[in-house]
Amino acid sequence: KTDSWDECFNAAVEVAREAGEEIRSAFSSEKRIETKSCAVDLVTETDQKVEEMIISTLRGKFPTHSFIGEESAAAGEKVELTDNPTWIIDPVDGTTNFVHGFPFVAVSIALSVNKEVVVGVVYNAILDQMFTGQLGKGAFMNGKPIHVSGQEDLSQSLLISEFGSSRDKEKMDLVFSNLGSFLNEKNSAHGLRSMGSAALNMSHVACGGGDAYFEFGIHCWDVAAGFLVVKEAGGVILDTAGGPFDMMSRRVLCASSEKLARTIAEGLTQMELPRD
Ligand code: IPD
Repeated sequence: KTDSWDECFNAAVEVAREAGEEIRSAFSSEKRIETKSCAVDLVTETDQKVEEMIISTLRGKFPTHSFIGEESAAAGEKVELTDNPTWIIDPVDGTTNFVHGFPFVAVSIALSVNKEVVVGVVYNAILDQMFTGQLGKGAFMNGKPIHVSGQEDLSQSLLISEFGSSRDKEKMDLVFSNLGSFLNEKNSAHGLRSMGSAALNMSHVACGGGDAYFEFGIHCWDVAAGFLVVKEAGGVILDTAGGPFDMMSRRVLCASSEKLARTIAEGLTQMELPRD
C-alpha cells in the first residue's frame, strides 16, 4: 500500500465536494438552528448531516482509520488523537456564516498519521474555492500552487483574527485588548479581518491574502487541515506564545514569516484553555 497518502487525499477532496453540494443547496434555505455551549455557539441539521456523510464515506474506504469530528464530539464522543491514521473533520466551519448567508463556509478535512497532518483539505463550498495541502507536496487553490506573502513587518500587514464562540467576559476583554494592541497610533497593522472560519482564515494566509492569523479558543477540527495548507504554502504555525504549535491546545498563530509570527506572539496576552 502506498505510503504517500494519495488515495486518502483524493478521497478527502471528493467527499469535500460532495459535502459542499449539500451545504450549497441548504445555504439559501431556512435553517433549523440550535445552540451548543452558549447562545452564540450555533449548530444546524446540515452540520450534523454533512459530518455523518463524510465519516461514513471515509470509514467505508478506510475501515481501520479513526475519526474526530466536531459534531460527534458535541454529541459526547471522546476526542482522542492517537498515532493511528485519524481523520479530523469540521463539516461546516463557519456555521454562523452559514446561518446568516455570509459566503465563507468551509468543509475542513485533515488526516493525521503518527500525530502529523499529511492531508489537509479546506473547501469554501459557496465560492467554490478548494484549498489543499499534502505533506511535502505543496499547497494549492483550485489546483494552482499558492504561497504566503512572506511579509515580515507588522506595520505592513493585514491581520486576521476572530471573536470566537464564547462570550465569557474575561475572554472577551482579552480578545479586545489583543486586537487593540495591533491597531494603534504607533506600530499598527494595515487592518484586521474576520472571515468567521478558522480554516478559511488559515487558507487566506496561505494564499497571501492575509499576512497572519491568531485565535484563542479554536478546536483541533477548526485548524487541522488549515495547518497543512499554511505549512505547505511556506507559512509558519506556532503556539500563540511562540512555542511549537499544539493542535489540541485550542490556540493558533500562523503567519507569512517567522519574524511576523514572533512579533505577534510577543504582543499577545496569553490565555490558557481546557485542552481538546
Ligand atoms: C468556528 C469558526 C470561527 C472561530 C470559532 C470556531 P464552527 O467554527 O472557525 O471562525 O472563531 O472559534 O468555533 O463552529 O463554525 O465550526
